[in-house]
Amino acid sequence: MFKNFLNKQVNIAQPIEARKEQVKRESVPSHIAIIMDGNGRWAKKRALPRIAGHREGMKNVKKITRCASDIGVEVLTVYAFSTENWKRPKEEVDFLMRLPVDFLDTFLPELIERNVRVEMIGEPDVLPKHTQGALFEAMERTKHNTGLILNFALNYGSRDEMVRAMKAVMQKVQQGDLCIQDVDEVCLSQHMMTSHLPEPDLLIRTSGEVRLSNFMLWQLAYTEFWFTDILWPDFEEDAFLDAVQGYQKRNRRYGGLKGEETN
Ligand code: IPE
Ligand code: IPE
Ligand code: MG
Repeated sequence: MFKNFLNKQVNIAQPIEARKEQVKRESVPSHIAIIMDGNGRWAKKRALPRIAGHREGMKNVKKITRCASDIGVEVLTVYAFSTENWKRPKEEVDFLMRLPVDFLDTFLPELIERNVRVEMIGEPDVLPKHTQGALFEAMERTKHNTGLILNFALNYGSRDEMVRAMKAVMQKVQQGDLCIQDVDEVCLSQHMMTSHLPEPDLLIRTSGEVRLSNFMLWQLAYTEFWFTDILWPDFEEDAFLDAVQGYQKRNRRYGGLKGEETN
């Protein structure tokens, strides 16, 4: 923003690098989770098949991963395929299952160079072998990296995760390895697929839908939400930085009071 000769405020789009520097001056969310929605509608608007939207969406994951890594985000969790997405037509599911292969074929060297660690949440066993292979290879080859964790939620469903956690806890109780008195929130968190990660600070959902669609219901208890109408393939760096700056203006209270409110 500057004043022109008529003394009017003029909005000049800031270059993206300057925006990143500005964002880094305040507290950057450690963990950002994204429900990447709207690929199908992006394609439909252009009279293209839905899969064209998914391909474009995949390209955007690269852009947002770079941006998240540049501003110092620790964990970026991206919802890529839900336990409910198996209901879609077989051709679409097949295409979605090939995307991690294409993504990693073309992007793994850069991820390694950027010190990014690839991880996943969700149940991998029922994924096609080529999908598993690409993911496991990326996880293996990046396991010692110490930069951004790029965490794919793939065949992930929050209720499925909670059922699995409950079963694991109950089994330990049954075997006498755990007392019922010791089953508390920390214990349940330790049995979630995210046990080693901080809880998300910021959740972003694109495409105008205002729901969670079975995503991280346990972990999002105190997360800040950012909903935008922008469709995922169009959600580029500027929109991402808008979300982070929106987060930086929020006042997180966790049920208590903050600062002057305590007087
Ligand atoms: C999100 O885009 C990607 C996945 C769910 C895999 P959609 O495919 O849900 O796109 P819309 O919601 O139909 O536009
Ligand atoms: C949520 O989007 C799942 C992913 C983004 C992977 P959906 O498009 O499947 O969600 P609904 O059906 O609109 O709730
Ligand atoms: Mg959708």
